[in-house]
Amino acid sequence: MGIVVAVDGTSGSGKSSTCRGVASALGLRYLDTGAMYRAMTWWMLEHGVDVHDPAAVAARCSEPTIETGTDPAAPTIHVDGVDVSGPIRSPEVNDAVSPVAAVPEVREQLVALQRAHIDEARAGSGIVVEGRDIGSTVAPEAPVKLYLTADPAARAARRAAEEGGSDLASTEASLRRRDEIDSGRAASPLTMADGAAHLDTTHLSLEQVIDQVVSLVRAVEAGA
Ligand code: DC
Repeated sequence: MGIVVAVDGTSGSGKSSTCRGVASALGLRYLDTGAMYRAMTWWMLEHGVDVHDPAAVAARCSEPTIETGTDPAAPTIHVDGVDVSGPIRSPEVNDAVSPVAAVPEVREQLVALQRAHIDEARAGSGIVVEGRDIGSTVAPEAPVKLYLTADPAARAARRAAEEGGSDLASTEASLRRRDEIDSGRAASPLTMADGAAHLDTTHLSLEQVIDQVVSLVRAVEAGA
């Protein structure tokens, strides 16, 4: 049976690069659940839904068809057949995604999709799943759970570099705003799951983090 590796943590803690690297190294699938919340948010903005009105978001969240490709070398995300991998990283989506992700109906919808991916991968080689509530809610039975964090300044520097050198101060402010909403919401807030290993990546290189996680997964698989 394929292993499930649940990786949660704050924005910009290095989750995506780490998870993709670990999945590639171990021949596992990779699921970016944040991209699914971003895709839902993109659709809401496209359709003129007020993202700050939870009832309006809840009323429409079953309309879009969200499809996620789980190859760690080339993850994909489509909404109603449109490739949205670029647009879901826009500042507009960055600012609107946390309120959309706080709507319980949105979470119910996307968690069901996420569990379908996980069940499929479990029957195969396994999967690395990244998000905020994977170890606590989506896959609490995962044999490997990790919680990644890094200092806000380090996270902002990484995100700004990813986004093509955007302004550091505003990137940090936007990250902090999202963390606050993600941690404070009622539905599946960002928390460290029971049994999760905490890894602070502030002073580690990407390669060091990947190595540590790969070792941990191998140890668990070997029954250590
Ligand atoms: O990881 P990210 O920055 O792409 O996540 C985008 C947003 O989606 C962020 O505000 C947190 C939210 N999210 C969530 O609530 N639950 C998840 N499993 C993944 C992301």
